[in-house]
Amino acid sequence: MPIIAIINGPNLNLLGRREPGVYGALTLDDINARIQKRFPDVQFAFFQSNHEGELIDYIHDAWSRADGIVLNAGAYTHYSIALRDALAAVDIPAVEVHLSNVHARESFRHHSVIAPVCLGQIAGFGWQSYVLGVHAILDRIEQSA
Ligand code: DQA
Repeated sequence: MPIIAIINGPNLNLLGRREPGVYGALTLDDINARIQKRFPDVQFAFFQSNHEGELIDYIHDAWSRADGIVLNAGAYTHYSIALRDALAAVDIPAVEVHLSNVHARESFRHHSVIAPVCLGQIAGFGWQSYVLGVHAILDRIEQSA
């Protein structure tokens, strides 16, 4: 059974209450439950932190524990070279996801320092962005098996 880490960065613990017009009404727990329900044969490790260093430590740990990473780095997406370097360091496939379509929003959200070290970026599909991200990781795992 593949193990996939679903990692969420700053402010995503507030989903459900935070700007629901942009991010939807589901809480992070609701989203994680839906992901698990969609993929009953996948083992997920769910993690959220508002702290850059904790996210980096978790990515390092995932190297020996997970087969892939689906990451919504929140605002760190746009400027955290340290998170990018952590993803580049670990030899496991990662997909960047966003609930909102970052390219249709403020220009500072258009740039990702994370995407170049990921398989790709999925944005704008609400909680389904995570589902699409898991599909992409599973395909990659299957190809390299
Ligand atoms: C986000 C988009 C980011 O620009 C923002 O800082 C977030 C959430 C999203 O899921 O749409 O915190 O990653």
